[in-house]
Amino acid sequence: MEERNFVITGDIVHSKSPGELETLENGCLVCIGGKSAGLFPALPGEYRNLPQKDYGGKLVLPGLSDLHVHAPQFGFRALGMDLELLDWLNKNAFPEEAKFQDCEYAGLSYGMFVEALRRSPSCRAVIFATLHTPATVLLMEKLEEAGLVCFVGKLNMDRNCPPYLREESAAVSLSSTREWLEQSESKLKSANIRPILSPRFIPSCSDELLRGLAGLQKEYGRKRPLPLQSHLSENRQEIEWVKKLCPQSRTYAGAYSDFGLFGEAGPAIMAHCVWPEDEEIELIKKRGVFIAHCPQSNTNLSSGIAPVRRFLEAGLRLGLGTDVAGGVHLSVFRAMSDAIQVSKLRQALLAPEEKALGLEEAFYLGSAGGGAFFEQAGMGRSGSFDAGNDFDALVIDDMNPVSGLASPLHLSLRDRLERLVYLAADGNINAKYVRGLQVL
Ligand code: GUN
Ligand code: FE
Repeated sequence: MEERNFVITGDIVHSKSPGELETLENGCLVCIGGKSAGLFPALPGEYRNLPQKDYGGKLVLPGLSDLHVHAPQFGFRALGMDLELLDWLNKNAFPEEAKFQDCEYAGLSYGMFVEALRRSPSCRAVIFATLHTPATVLLMEKLEEAGLVCFVGKLNMDRNCPPYLREESAAVSLSSTREWLEQSESKLKSANIRPILSPRFIPSCSDELLRGLAGLQKEYGRKRPLPLQSHLSENRQEIEWVKKLCPQSRTYAGAYSDFGLFGEAGPAIMAHCVWPEDEEIELIKKRGVFIAHCPQSNTNLSSGIAPVRRFLEAGLRLGLGTDVAGGVHLSVFRAMSDAIQVSKLRQALLAPEEKALGLEEAFYLGSAGGGAFFEQAGMGRSGSFDAGNDFDALVIDDMNPVSGLASPLHLSLRDRLERLVYLAADGNINAKYVRGLQVL
């Protein structure tokens, strides 16, 4: 495809590793067939005839990944935040999610969410929808039209939720999940949007439903990976509840594992992990399960501070989630600064031996760290400009006075990145490319 072969010039920053940025002032990025052919201080002769897009003086960064966000909760973000998780679900989340029975309302709300995501720094997202199949397919179609790369999950929930937002039985939940998997296969035109199994969390799903989902993951995963997402160890009351619901399991993570839902039959991603036991960390590592760290949500819902330094030292796979509407901001730049800030509080108040995150580490988590989930789940590597990665890029005109980001100081590229992170740039994206196609 010719439009996916081009050169971009600008001030380029990306991660080499969790501790190391690579910066290139007035450098070149080459996109061939939607994939990066690498970054170069000067354009190699072989690419001289490609179309060039000059973003001189602007920052060019890899696209970010939001590993955990609830699309139907976008409408009530920043409302009713004076509650902890279980009350917040009952009072805010469940009544709003019930409205997605109505496709007209779903179209309105999802339209706003998708447009905000398109304008955000995220090129990729792992998304919870609701239990409603038609509204979930509608969301997938809108995301496809916007050109983003996403995993989207129709929720499963058949117990401990209000009658107006509960699937009748495990059998009904499983058969509507099958129907949704078939529909997402037949209705979507591109390979950018894929389904992800989404049991809400253990309290919302019967044993029979959880076992059935493990079977579905195995069955559908024979053709191509079918990943799974859920919530793990977010809130202390929730954890106590799970102990009562699964008395035979050693831990919360162990309960998912006992049902076969912890990386056995395909990639898995768990949001939060605020209160992990040592053996849960070991199990997460052994199974290659991804953690979506959601610092703003964990603050808003008074859940706690996840031990991210321990996760990194244990070599776990980790990225950032906005968790809208537990979190209120859709910007992964904001998730980076939140991650740094809560880690500073954790070090100061709780665990002096757990060193706070630095800028390089937080940027890595929001870009290459989260991007690695997409590779594991068969959607291409992203999050840096290494040759062979999908070409996902952001262009930000941070020095333009109208950006609200300009400064009279003489700044290095690292300085400019630090300001984007701490100022939580969101609506300031001037251009955005996903798999080599311009979506903004
Ligand atoms: N645990 C189960 N459901 C949810 C949800 O919608 N948001 C958050 N933050 N945690 C959950
Ligand atoms: Fe969540």
